[in-house]
Amino acid sequence: MSEITNTATEPLLETRDLAAGYNGVPAIRGLTLSVGPGEVVALLGPNGAGKTTSLLAMVGLVPPLAGEVRVLGEPLGKRKPHQVARAGVLLVPDDRGIFYGLTVREHLRLAGKKNDAQREVEVLDKFPVLRNLDSRRAGLMSGGEQQMLAIAKALLARPKVLIIDEMSLGLAPKIVQEMLPAIRELAKEDGIGVVLVEQHIELALGIADRGVILNHGQVVLTGAASDLLRDRHLVEAAYFGAEEFAADDEDKTLAG
Ligand SMILES: Nc1ncnc2c1ncn2[C@@H]1O[C@H](COP(=O)(O)OP(=O)(O)OP(=O)(O)O)[C@@H](O)[C@H]1O
Ligand SMILES: [Mg+2]
Repeated sequence: MSEITNTATEPLLETRDLAAGYNGVPAIRGLTLSVGPGEVVALLGPNGAGKTTSLLAMVGLVPPLAGEVRVLGEPLGKRKPHQVARAGVLLVPDDRGIFYGLTVREHLRLAGKKNDAQREVEVLDKFPVLRNLDSRRAGLMSGGEQQMLAIAKALLARPKVLIIDEMSLGLAPKIVQEMLPAIRELAKEDGIGVVLVEQHIELALGIADRGVILNHGQVVLTGAASDLLRDRHLVEAAYFGAEEFAADDEDKTLAG
């Protein structure tokens, strides 16, 4: 007997030619990307490239100036950030969005859905460390533990898309090496689409399906993560080379 499976790859989240910014001035332009179920997309680029702005625009925290964001095939339109969250698109911000004065237990209780104790068991199975920290205040936990709490909190809501800004900010490389594969597993097991902003280029591409590199608010390079890892010089040029290329007064086109 064969089961009917839906193999259509309708993206969970999409941006189309998106421009967004502050006070009417675009910080990103022409951003087109998509993430499907179980897929991890790494959004990379130097400081000020527009990575955080892109993520904020995806959840409606920064309004688009042009183009659009589509969530589950529907235009985001004027939906408020909490409506986007309810639709299953969750942002873990770079400050982790946790409260230093609250314990792990209190965070989990606030984030969990009513009558969904099963989910908490599943989530804590993914981050068993948190079980031992139940009554610990978040402010007294390590950066890695705080990050696990931030992600666990988001997972309790059974998101379809998880958007994570600089997960590894302030974390020791060893912790980052553990956390990134955990994110990969999570995407695979739960079919969650993940958009990840990360400064550890190689580690991020090591677990991602695709990489998108932004510089000065625009996509300068995009491709399969495995290809980008192989063509490290292209990534480096996209990342660091814009000024050098400008100085050369040569061809500045890195993508396409
Ligand atoms: N609230 C704001 N108001 C005005 N301009 C802003 C605001 N936030 C960011 N910007 C500007 O938008 C541009 C993109 O910033 P953004 O934070 O998206 O970059 P980023 O790639 O996330 O950088 P980083 O790696 O440092 O986090 C920068 O020039 C920044 O100065
Ligand atoms: Mg940022």
